[in-house]
Amino acid sequence: MENLNFYLMADPHYFSKKLWVEGNAIEARSHTDQVILKESPEIIDAFFKIFENDNETDTIVLIGDLINVGEKLCHDEFTEKLRSLQEKGKRILVLTATHDYNGCGEDENTFVAVGYSENGTYQVPCVRREELDEIYRPFGRDKAESEYDMSYSLNIGGYRFILLNDDGNGHTDCGLDDNGNEWLEKELIKANENGEPVLLFTHHPVITPYPVYEAVAPTEMYGRHPILKEMLMKHGVKAVFTGHSHIHTIRKITDGEKELYDIGTTSAVSAYGKIRKVCLKDGYADITTVDLPEKIEGIPGGSKQIADSCFGGYYRRLIDTAVKDYNEFLKLGIGLIPTEKAKKFRFIIRPALKTFSKINMSFAGKVGRNYSGLDKNEICKHKDEKVIDMVFVIIDRFFQGDAPYTPDTYEHKVIFGALKKADQIMKRLKIDLSKHLSGIDSLWTLAEPLVHNTRTGCDREIKIKLTDEVTYEKD
Ligand SMILES: [Fe+2]
Ligand SMILES: [Fe+2]
Repeated sequence: MENLNFYLMADPHYFSKKLWVEGNAIEARSHTDQVILKESPEIIDAFFKIFENDNETDTIVLIGDLINVGEKLCHDEFTEKLRSLQEKGKRILVLTATHDYNGCGEDENTFVAVGYSENGTYQVPCVRREELDEIYRPFGRDKAESEYDMSYSLNIGGYRFILLNDDGNGHTDCGLDDNGNEWLEKELIKANENGEPVLLFTHHPVITPYPVYEAVAPTEMYGRHPILKEMLMKHGVKAVFTGHSHIHTIRKITDGEKELYDIGTTSAVSAYGKIRKVCLKDGYADITTVDLPEKIEGIPGGSKQIADSCFGGYYRRLIDTAVKDYNEFLKLGIGLIPTEKAKKFRFIIRPALKTFSKINMSFAGKVGRNYSGLDKNEICKHKDEKVIDMVFVIIDRFFQGDAPYTPDTYEHKVIFGALKKADQIMKRLKIDLSKHLSGIDSLWTLAEPLVHNTRTGCDREIKIKLTDEVTYEKD
């Protein structure tokens, strides 16, 4: 086996600059999206520069949702960028996913390719699912040694790369069907017989990033993932790389003997965009995280501007503005908050947000004191800290992983105490959460992975031994 490095990019959601002009329409769309559409070309270019400048890494894997929603122009421009990387000597391996086409008939995925004029939208040419194979064949599948539908398998430097297409329509299970699973199993057996450690890639999560994710959105998982997990563990596969959820986490399952890791990578164009770098050496995968660079050509405020304008940064600005300048709040909330209703209920919304912004951490500490065991002196020390700040730290970490508050911190104890108290109240009222969210029996079970990392302890990096001895009995 050679030493081999590769980069992994998930969910770049490229959106062409030619498909929008400044105005309420693009603002409204941006406010309801967790990804950054307007600046996606600059962000993608910044990451592609990293690829270009890294002479020790010649392989780049992209695992779907390459563009916004199936716009032909976005595919044209995005593939041009991929071709330019190829001309600089990079090997590109691509999977497409649900956002890469506009469905019709059985493939209906509800996406419609549009551009944004000042105050509305207009339809633009789209790509259908059956066209994707031809468009993206030059980016990986043309080198495949074996294929099934748009899934493929190839040997690179003694390692077996298997990329599984799971571009479902978003309503039903996605992923391999029975024949596809048969194909995959043959590939895994062949890899073991040839002594090739396997690296598996697919778009949807195979192990849920947070328990609540699978409980509320089971079709946002890799379809039939229990079958896939069982097969991977049976054949000693240790690492599967996934995207889609935009949540940057590393999670693990074990049957007591074997382990399987799902390395989830956040969207490259999210508030805290990241990619992964993986170094393969002596049968080990050394997996790390590469953040969006601070300086980005074409974005004066760089990564800080991106973080402030999107998701947590945007919601925080919305709350602060509602308290300070309600008319500005109405403008800022376009697309997210119905303007007429927000005007009508100003007398409730503004004081409610004002009160919430003022609640301090000492007050919050008193709420669940009987459960957290916090003493009065400790609680008094935190009267200058605000609950809203803690909430936004948690929100900011939701997608970038490594939830912030370990069990020894004051914040962890405050949340634990408050939720345990709420759980007791729910019990008395005979409210059973597990009836609504499968596998979740309390508010604390739901919240704990968002408060601190209950997975592998670190979502940014891990070193995994890829080779487990697997022997097959001869017939
Ligand atoms: Fe996505
Ligand atoms: Fe997706």
